[in-house]
Amino acid sequence: MPGIKHQIYQCADAGSVVCPCFLAESGHCVQCSLLQGEELCHCLWSGVCVYNEFAWRREEPRPPREEISAEIRGKEYLSPDTVQLTLLVPEDFWRECRNAGSYVLVRANERPAMFDTPMVVSDTGTKEPSIVLIAQALGPKTKALEAANALVRLKGPFPNGLLGYRYLERLTGARALLVARGVCQGAALPVARQLIAQGNTATAMVDPGQTGRVFVAGPFGDLGIPIREGSLLDDEGKELLHRILSTEKIDLIFSGGSDLQHLHIREVVRAIDLRIPMVVTNNQTVCCGEGICGGCQVTTVDGQSVRTCKTVLKMEDLWV
Ligand SMILES: Cc1cc2nc3c(=O)[nH]c(=O)nc-3n(C[C@H](O)[C@H](O)[C@H](O)COP(=O)(O)OP(=O)(O)OC[C@H]3O[C@@H](n4cnc5c(N)ncnc54)[C@H](O)[C@@H]3O)c2cc1C
Ligand code: FES
Repeated sequence: MPGIKHQIYQCADAGSVVCPCFLAESGHCVQCSLLQGEELCHCLWSGVCVYNEFAWRREEPRPPREEISAEIRGKEYLSPDTVQLTLLVPEDFWRECRNAGSYVLVRANERPAMFDTPMVVSDTGTKEPSIVLIAQALGPKTKALEAANALVRLKGPFPNGLLGYRYLERLTGARALLVARGVCQGAALPVARQLIAQGNTATAMVDPGQTGRVFVAGPFGDLGIPIREGSLLDDEGKELLHRILSTEKIDLIFSGGSDLQHLHIREVVRAIDLRIPMVVTNNQTVCCGEGICGGCQVTTVDGQSVRTCKTVLKMEDLWV
């Protein structure tokens, strides 16, 4: 398109209650080329016009997500260092957590904001507005969270925890392969539920990783998703992945694990000459979730610096 200086990505928060945000004010809106200082609109966005909204608001950004206190309703150890927390949240907060890829920033109540840690919403309650987080206690932030018993501080929800979410959103009547390792089993749960709710079928390959346990066996069983245990780090697991992809017709792959795992799966897909869209966990360092701190910034294959907490990305945008 003439006049475009660079590719325009979409913003996960566009048209939401936090849009236009501080980035509109500073000329760094993720998706509005006009607010970025260009002369023409290139956003190809059919939702609420960010530029128009900003003008209507007399160039005043909307306030970011507020921090709230949430009561811990349940605490259960899934393995010695992996804890499942059920938190009571306001109803509108709960409603916004239901899509796969939703995550929150959470910290133990008595800790300062520097303890905020991103955690996937693994489940949402049906009897009361509650959310479930599954945290592996690794370092200062997660160990403090593990020790919490009564209250936590919570910010969110944020919608952009997955790269390639758009592939999942559109998938119906198809078959998916879920690959999850360690605590990322928690991120696989909402993906599995959404896939089945949209009329798909799925099979799974789960590696207990450092948690030492396949804790999704129960919920996956309820969803009719068979699990094969295997580590992508050993030859047997690699062989299993190869076999599943060569013999079953898989239309989408979810990878919950490290970037290395995502890339390894893609390598196997390419080696058998398949083209299967992938939805993967975003593993960048997320601190503010609002596109401000820069902690989650990466360089895309077309050379742009983007903030992955806000920018809607696919694996192909980050790795050739
Ligand atoms: C969108 C998203 C969702 C996540 N969901 C979960 C989840 O559901 N359950 C879970 O146990 N973990 C999850 N994580 C990872 C979790 O946030 C980190 O393990 C945690 O922040 C580690 O902090 P720490 O101080 O306990 O440990 P550290 O010792 O500081 O770090 C341990 C590991 O976590 C990484 N890490 C540290 N801080 C962050 C950060 N702010 N953002 C991302 N990675 C970080 C480090 O690079 C290191 O690899 C998620 C991360 C992201 C980005
Ligand atoms: S987490 Fe702060 S800019 Fe993305």
